[in-house]
Amino acid sequence: MNSSIKLWGGRFLKKSNPLFQNFNNSLHTDYQLVKYDILGSISWSKSLLECKVLTIFEQKSIENALKILLKKVSHNPKLMLNSDSEDIHSWVEFELVNMIGVLGKKLHTGRSRNDQVSNSLKLWCKNIIYKLIEDLKKIQYTLVLQSEVSYKCIMPGYTHLQRAQPITFAYWCLAYIEMFKRDEQRLKDSLLRINSSPLGSGALSGTFCNINRNKLAMDMGFLTATNNSLDSVSDRDYVIEFLSIASISMMHLSRLSEDLIFFNSGEVSFVELSDLFTSGSSLMPQKKNPDALELIRGKTGIVYGSLISILVILKGLPLSYNKDLQEDKGVLFSTVNIWRNSLKIAELVLKTLRIQRFNCLKSAYKGYANATELVDYLVNKGLAFRDAHHISGKIVLEAIKKKCFLENLDINIFKKYSDLFELDVYNKLDIVSCIDNKSSKGGVSFNQVLKSIKNIKNSLYFSCIN
Ligand code: ARG
Repeated sequence: MNSSIKLWGGRFLKKSNPLFQNFNNSLHTDYQLVKYDILGSISWSKSLLECKVLTIFEQKSIENALKILLKKVSHNPKLMLNSDSEDIHSWVEFELVNMIGVLGKKLHTGRSRNDQVSNSLKLWCKNIIYKLIEDLKKIQYTLVLQSEVSYKCIMPGYTHLQRAQPITFAYWCLAYIEMFKRDEQRLKDSLLRINSSPLGSGALSGTFCNINRNKLAMDMGFLTATNNSLDSVSDRDYVIEFLSIASISMMHLSRLSEDLIFFNSGEVSFVELSDLFTSGSSLMPQKKNPDALELIRGKTGIVYGSLISILVILKGLPLSYNKDLQEDKGVLFSTVNIWRNSLKIAELVLKTLRIQRFNCLKSAYKGYANATELVDYLVNKGLAFRDAHHISGKIVLEAIKKKCFLENLDINIFKKYSDLFELDVYNKLDIVSCIDNKSSKGGVSFNQVLKSIKNIKNSLYFSCIN
């Protein structure tokens, strides 16, 4: 273990209690910020040159040493874990001093860890947001490919978990694409707010260094510098916003998982999940359990916990920096792991499942999922909707009594309830026409689905090359 410098030893007469030291240190978590801490430090050294705290020679020496350190950590990102530094900021400074001596001690001039930590964390978040946008595109792409091969696969659509109206497997896939598209948009929107740099806010009231903070911000890839230093070092809205987007997206993944668990169940068997993403029982040899999907559903709860944690950590926190804020990174990092892994696993489960088309179709025929068509038929013939609904309900009851499908009832039975019924009612009740009737925007008709598939493929393609 390296013994590192403390950043704040001067006014203390006694050494910290080791238990407290352990409790206080955050290196084991925030080491993941190392790249961004170094990049921020390089930019900060340029600001110190601008305000003449460093000479050009000093700035270059610091920059070169930091670049060497960056290379070292990119080869070994856990390099710092055997040091006893308090956090990643202390570690980088300690390494710099080790490399270039006393000059390294100038780097922290006019800067505080309060602005530094939020700056590094914002840079880290920005990078992960771009990665997540790509992850979300990938799952949408997998879903659109599945919808292309299943656009003719008819299955029941449910409300209250009761068969409601026939839909297609493709249509189900397209519904989830919409959700993931919204998650992607939410992440893009959040970039607008995260894109300002707190560096140069100092401890809470700004820096004495006369620097152009906007220039500094842009050097690190931010759009601008933050407006108020007191707010800048207190603000973790971007963490809350990120975790709330994660929670919404995990909710989508959890519902997708729940649907697939149901589709894969022995009672329904609309799909068969691949052996690659299921596991067996230690006791019952026949079992093949949808563990991957159950875990996504379970881990969604953990992500919600992270969102609640950060909200509670911040609630009632006085301005500006308080050590409570150090707890932001643990919840953020673990959520990113869960979210990215869940997206990947869900994508692979979708890619490898087998659709059991016959079971889907057979089930769509059951449950009188075409009863609404009967209502529409009567309405088209001029009957008021309420009356049409009542008559159709009576006919469903009759079919239930006879234990047959609506389309198996004799025409005289239809006529018994309304003389508007003609033989063309059988065409209307046909399952394919049930689907094709919903042909306005957003409907399940084959043409609408094909149109949506085309639009989604185009937009995914264009957003990939943009
Ligand atoms: N490790 C700290 C964190 O993650 C860095 C900021 C420390 N600032 C301070 N005033 N103690 O929040």
